[in-house]
Amino acid sequence: MTVTVFNKIIDVKNTVNEWRKNNKTIGLVPTMGALHNGHASLIKKAKETCDKVVVSVFVNPIQFGPNEDYNKYPRDLESDRRLCEEMGVDIIFAPTPTEMYGEGAKLSNTDITFVCPPYNLIDCLCGKSRPGHFDGVATVVLKLFNIVTPDYAFFGQKDAQQLFILKKMVKDLNLNLTIIPCPIVRESDGLALSSRNTYLSKEERERALTISKALNYVHTLYKKGITDSATLFDSAVSVLDKEIEPEYIEFRDYETFNKTDTVKENTLIAIAAKVGNTRLIDNIII
Ligand code: PAJ
Repeated sequence: MTVTVFNKIIDVKNTVNEWRKNNKTIGLVPTMGALHNGHASLIKKAKETCDKVVVSVFVNPIQFGPNEDYNKYPRDLESDRRLCEEMGVDIIFAPTPTEMYGEGAKLSNTDITFVCPPYNLIDCLCGKSRPGHFDGVATVVLKLFNIVTPDYAFFGQKDAQQLFILKKMVKDLNLNLTIIPCPIVRESDGLALSSRNTYLSKEERERALTISKALNYVHTLYKKGITDSATLFDSAVSVLDKEIEPEYIEFRDYETFNKTDTVKENTLIAIAAKVGNTRLIDNIII
């Protein structure tokens, strides 16, 4: 079966309406494309859970800051199409920014309606260095939910803060769907898969590996009984390559998203670091 690629919202809505008439359950996997095995794991889970699967491929301009990599973000719709076809995806929704936000719209809150997640969840971790990022993510994801009307939507634990914020949005705005979290997929040496890994040189990739190594080390120490966040922070720093600039290493309760001084079950340990010019994130949940 070939996968259908739609650029127009109306085409997705018409197809989804047909599925609904036939009582099909619908799964949505939102992505920005340049699909890798991390995305594939979400698609696989969606295929196992739902009758029909939609993958959206949209590099969303409103979640990138002015000095970020919107223009150079990897785009390869043909390779994304092949992967989706192999995996039995029913529809790829690949709109243009104009289709999503309207002709000539300034992509700011002077022209379009934004979803604003709670301040406590966006003024920290990735939100601190990326002001407006999570407003942009929540806005595009709500739009995708309204267009596709999925029963289930699949997100990776790799973006733990994003996942937390989107679950909160679903709850706070009474959205009629279930978010399914999916575990982080890694290379065999531990590097978390990311579309941005393609930016890394060979040497930078070696350095980037110390991010997952630092997280593993913290996990090992925790299992040996060390629970003090400050001590574990220092241990993580000691493993990170000295050329890497950590933006944050944080310990947060994954129920409340509050900072925690003591690591226990359901603590998120999250790292963001710049390797050369590439900003990478990774985390573990204890
Ligand atoms: P993108 O970075 O393309 O990621 C799409 C989905 O794939 C996200 O849910 C992300 O957490 C998941 N993912 C990425 N790498 C993964 C890995 N190594 N293991 C498991 N899952 C992984 O996240 C976005 O796009 C955008 O912000 C989006 C939600 C599509 C809104 O524009």
